[in-house]
Amino acid sequence: MELFDVYPLYDVTPVSAKDVYIYDEKGIEYLDLYGGHAVISIGHSHPHYIDQISNQLKNIGFYSNAIQNPLQQKLASALGEHSCLHDYQLFLCNSGAEAIENALKLSSFHTGRKKVLAFHKAFHGRTSAAVAVTDNSAINAPLNSQHEVTFLPFNDLEALENELKSADYCAVIFEAIQGVGGLDEPNEEFLIGMNKLCNQYNTCLIADEVQSGFSRSGTFFAYQKYPITPHIVTMAKGMGNGFPVGGILIHPEIKASYGLLGTTFGGNHLACAAALAVLDVLKKEQLQEKTKILEGFFRARAAEVPKIKRIKGRGLMLGLEFDFEIASLRKKLINEYHIFTGGSSNKKLIRILPPLTIQEKHFDLFFNALGSAIKTL
Ligand SMILES: Cc1ncc(COP(=O)(O)O)c(C=O)c1O
Repeated sequence: MELFDVYPLYDVTPVSAKDVYIYDEKGIEYLDLYGGHAVISIGHSHPHYIDQISNQLKNIGFYSNAIQNPLQQKLASALGEHSCLHDYQLFLCNSGAEAIENALKLSSFHTGRKKVLAFHKAFHGRTSAAVAVTDNSAINAPLNSQHEVTFLPFNDLEALENELKSADYCAVIFEAIQGVGGLDEPNEEFLIGMNKLCNQYNTCLIADEVQSGFSRSGTFFAYQKYPITPHIVTMAKGMGNGFPVGGILIHPEIKASYGLLGTTFGGNHLACAAALAVLDVLKKEQLQEKTKILEGFFRARAAEVPKIKRIKGRGLMLGLEFDFEIASLRKKLINEYHIFTGGSSNKKLIRILPPLTIQEKHFDLFFNALGSAIKTL
């Protein structure tokens, strides 16, 4: 049997990883400034993470959601503490798209409506409603067109109000820092206004923190830089440091009832152990605080590179926009300098999404390599 060939692959075969490094089958060491697409939060193969998951597996790895699983409540309490959203409720699932799907469905149940408002360049995943609110027609199949979605630009409160006043919308979904879209951010005035309009027109505000959440941006969730209160917050990626786990945090005004949402694997014992280990390490190693210092260092080094037009993003969710398309530069960085970076829908932008355990010396390595790579393009 062959694999269904949907991924254009780099010719690298990782066989092991430690902290910010990946090793291939020939023993070549790669610096990971991509984090497997913003997934690696506490570093590859963190000893506490390995211990917690292995110990859990020795006891019980999985049972369905029909039984008591105290690890879920432990995770809910830990998430409340880290995010300060103590009165929100937690529903667990397995991936980012599933978190989005559940957030949209819950908004629809809660409001009795079905239209969704999303933003230009948004990416929210590949499943039915998630891909319909993603601004990319190439990955939407005819089946997905059943969803009623309106896309608007960021920062246009008038256009937003014109739509919301129809009282047809169950949700407005946004990324406080767009990931796949290329690190654009809505401004503070717009976010505050959007929050007010959602409350005024009884529409749920969904903050998609699948990529920007779990301390990557300098606050626990990226939207928390601003005084806004979403009804639902989605999370995944960094939550499990590679273990597939996702979830939504739900405002207390949205009430649960038996059977409203459900999943077989979501919130299983191993997933909870993984997410709890991530939260332990984020706290113990003060990784969120460190992202701000590292961002400052990164920006200062980037400012020395003349070909960089703009530095985008926050914390360790950063982008370097060049005055040329960067596909061959990224290839060169991997093949010749052994450094992984990320791309985005903006072809001139390199995305930097490293493990949060990265240090200044690693950024030095990167900028030295970048300087040489640019000279020989
Ligand atoms: C902001 C955002 N939302 C949702 C998703 C979908 O997550 P997953 O790939 O885990 O389904 C992604 C994935 O890149 C994302 O960046």
